[in-house]
Amino acid sequence: MFTLKIFSEVSLDPIIIFLIEECFAVKSAITKTPKKNWLKTSNVNFSPVKINKFIVTSSFFANSIKQNRFSLTIDASLAFGTGHHYSTKFCLELIQELKKRKNNPLTVIDVGCGTGILAIAIAKLFSSRIIAVDNDIHAVEMAKRNIVVNKVSQYVKVYKSTGLIGNHLNSRAKYDLVVANILYNPIKSMMRSIIENLSNGGSLILSGLNLKQTKHLKEISKQFRLKVINEKKEANWGALLLKKI
Ligand SMILES: C[S@@+](CC[C@H](N)C(=O)[O-])C[C@H]1O[C@@H](n2cnc3c(N)ncnc32)[C@H](O)[C@@H]1O
Repeated sequence: MFTLKIFSEVSLDPIIIFLIEECFAVKSAITKTPKKNWLKTSNVNFSPVKINKFIVTSSFFANSIKQNRFSLTIDASLAFGTGHHYSTKFCLELIQELKKRKNNPLTVIDVGCGTGILAIAIAKLFSSRIIAVDNDIHAVEMAKRNIVVNKVSQYVKVYKSTGLIGNHLNSRAKYDLVVANILYNPIKSMMRSIIENLSNGGSLILSGLNLKQTKHLKEISKQFRLKVINEKKEANWGALLLKKI
């Protein structure tokens, strides 16, 4: 038994409905969804979240919360990254772990920046020079807006790019910190270029992994001259803080 939901801005042609019913052997029901600004609604519905010192709020709630250097005003609309998901939460925790260890990265790349939440957090904590990239144009646009709202434009530059290779990126650049909260497969396939672009003694935060994948990356970390410094685990999600040795 399964449900197939199709959303359309225009009424579907009865012939198309008939074909869908025939192809999927289903009976259809048509309902009207209320007219709403869905993007605005998603921002409004996202409640403030505290991750150690950081407080993440959407711009809708920002005025009702006392702002300080750890406040992150993040609107998401079609991009990922509000701090509610374990993968983002772990990264924000591990970024603060670096601060605790007095490890202040001067140059950073955030691969798969989504809303720009991690790049913004790093800018606020370390005032580093940060490149944020995403292969999704919606994310790039949202990250650019959030960077302006958070007044960190002088620190963060955003580009559309797949991995660390893009028109605007210097493939020989060395970063003191690489953050990649993307899934296991893209992480694995870009591992070599990540290591090449990580300075000696540099830090690497990997997230968006399940526990099995986290364990596997830990096992192969030595192969990549990486040492595990810290690890986060919760609800089958995992993240690693590694150091290039
Ligand atoms: C899980 S979201 C992380 C967003 C944000 N960094 C956070 O921590 O919440 C992953 C993002 O990576 C982007 N992405 C996935 N594969 C990528 C790749 N190979 N290169 C660049 N961006 C990628 C997706 O478009 C998405 O915005």
